[in-house]
Amino acid sequence: MSSKRVLVTGAAGFIGFHSALALKARGDFVIGCDLFNDYYDPNLKKARAELLYQEGIEIQKLDICHPLAIETLLNSYQITHVLHLAAQAGVRHSMEHPECYVHSNLNGFIHLLEALKRFPEVKLIYASSSSVYGTNSKIPFAESDLTDHPASFYGATKKCNEITAASYHHVYGISCTGLRYFTVYGPWGRPDMAYFSFTRAILEGIPITVYGEGKLKRDFTYIDDIVAGTLSAIDLGAPLEIFNLGNCHPHSVTELIEHLEDLLEKKAILNFEPMPRGDVPMTYADISKSKNQINFEPKVNLKDGLTHFINWYLSHYPSAKKGASLHSLR
Ligand SMILES: NC(=O)c1ccc[n+]([C@@H]2O[C@H](COP(=O)([O-])OP(=O)(O)OC[C@H]3O[C@@H](n4cnc5c(N)ncnc54)[C@H](O)[C@@H]3O)[C@@H](O)[C@H]2O)c1
Repeated sequence: MSSKRVLVTGAAGFIGFHSALALKARGDFVIGCDLFNDYYDPNLKKARAELLYQEGIEIQKLDICHPLAIETLLNSYQITHVLHLAAQAGVRHSMEHPECYVHSNLNGFIHLLEALKRFPEVKLIYASSSSVYGTNSKIPFAESDLTDHPASFYGATKKCNEITAASYHHVYGISCTGLRYFTVYGPWGRPDMAYFSFTRAILEGIPITVYGEGKLKRDFTYIDDIVAGTLSAIDLGAPLEIFNLGNCHPHSVTELIEHLEDLLEKKAILNFEPMPRGDVPMTYADISKSKNQINFEPKVNLKDGLTHFINWYLSHYPSAKKGASLHSLR
C-alpha cells in the first residue's frame, strides 16, 4: 500500500487528471493545482476538475509562477512527491506564441525548483517530451541519444527542463525524474491533438488538414499505459533519471485516420498540406531502459485505445452522431 502525499501540477489537464485519479485510487493523498488556461476549451478542464472533486481531490486554481504558490502547497500539505505536468503543450503553437512557453515551461519550472530547494527531501517527477529528440535520425529514440537539436521551441523548453533539473540535483540534491512522453491519447484527451480534432472533423463533415501526405509517424501511447509508467517512476523516486514512455509501435497519420473512419463508420475529407516547420517525420521510443528500471510495458494497441476514446467522445458530446453521412449533416 502506497502512502505518498503527491502534489500534481496541471491536474485539470489530460495526463494530470488521469494520474491524480490513479494515485488517489491506490491510496495516496493527492492535491492538484492548475491555471485552467484557455489554450483549449476550459470547460473540458472544469469537467475533469469536477470529477476529481467528486473523488475527493481538490484542485487549487493558481499559476505555478506566482511567488510562494508552490512553496505554500508543499508546506501546507506536507508533500512528499511533486508530479509536475503543468506546462504549455503543443509543438505548432510554440512557433506562434513562444511567450506562453517561456512563462509556463521555463519560468514555471524554475519557480518549482526554487520552491523545492527549501524542501530537498521532496521528489520531483516531471513531464518532458519525445520532442527533445527533434531531428534525431536514429530510431528508435533512446535516452542516451544526443538531444541537442530540438525541431521546435516547445522541444527546446522541455530539453531546458531536463538540463535545469540536472543542475538543481547537482547543487541542491533534489531528486528529479524526467518522463519523455510520446503522443499520449485517450478518453478526456486534448482537443488540439490530431486524433481528437480529426474525430470531431469526421463527425461534423469538415475537411481534415493532413501534413506530409499522411506519412508522418507517431508512437501513439494510450493514457493508461502512460499513467502506469508515471506511477512506477514516482515509486522509484530516482535521484536523477530520464525515461522514455512510449508505445514502441509507431503508426502513420494515414493509419490513424483509417482506424477513426472504421470506428466512426464515416469517411474523412482530406486536405493535404506540406509538413510544417517544427514537425518531425517520426517518433519511436526505445523503451528498454523503462522496461528494466520501472517495469514499463505498454499494453493497449492503437485500435483498442481509439475505441475507448471514441466511446468516451460520443458519451461526452452526445450531440455528435456516429455514421451520419456528409449529406445528412448539410
Ligand atoms: N499529451 C501528450 O501527448 C504529451 C506528450 C509529451 C509531453 N507532454 C507533457 O505532459 C504534460 C501534460 O500534458 P497534457 O497533455 O496533460 O496537457 P494539458 O494541456 O492537458 O495539461 C497541462 C495543464 O497545465 C496547466 N498549466 C499551464 N500553464 C500553467 C501554469 N503556469 N500554472 C499552472 N498550470 C498551468 C494547463 O491549464 C493545463 O490544464 C505537459 O507538460 C506536456 O508538455 C504531453
